[in-house]
Amino acid sequence: MFNYILIIVIAYLLGNISTSYLVAKRIAGVDIRTQGSGNAGSTNVLRTLGKKAGAMTFVGDLLKGAIAVWVARILADLSGSDMQTSMYLGAVFVVAGHNWPAFLGFRGGKGVATSLGAMLAINTIIALIGFATFLVIVYFTRYVSLASVLGISMTPVLMILTQNKKGILVTLFLSISVIYTHRENIKRLLSGTERKLGQNKE
Ligand code: G3P
Repeated sequence: MFNYILIIVIAYLLGNISTSYLVAKRIAGVDIRTQGSGNAGSTNVLRTLGKKAGAMTFVGDLLKGAIAVWVARILADLSGSDMQTSMYLGAVFVVAGHNWPAFLGFRGGKGVATSLGAMLAINTIIALIGFATFLVIVYFTRYVSLASVLGISMTPVLMILTQNKKGILVTLFLSISVIYTHRENIKRLLSGTERKLGQNKE
């Protein structure tokens, strides 16, 4: 039990390390949450500060998702607690820490890159299919938000094929949290006012 609590705390704190916030403060001295869409994520950093900063943010947020799961694996190994439960707790809480960071007033990002990183560490094939879905939708529509919602939604569908109940629950959590954090984007998609990639208008 102590091991699970430790994983939850470590993963949540890792999630609180907001790459977009740090990159925007360092490069431009601004709080990314006051710029563009107001989201603390790579799409908004790309939109506000350019490709290099956007890529750095994406990689940083992705890595922390993967690191949380890797740390959980190591702790499960050391303590002998259930490997799957440990990894899934790492994934859920790193995304929770990213989306709702206590150290940033509970205003974080939308959890897409962090979910991808965690999923890459949990099930690389499913993560890559979700990411490929994301890339195809971005390519054809230029809507990152639509691609994010549909890409992550692939993961519980694919997880059903593995008949892994805990895996289905975790990927459902990741998908529902991405849909929830994109609720304003979804409204804009439905009303035809969502920004496309490369369109910087607020
Ligand atoms: O991952 C976030 C992206 O899907 C939407 O970001 O800044 O356009 O709300 P944004």
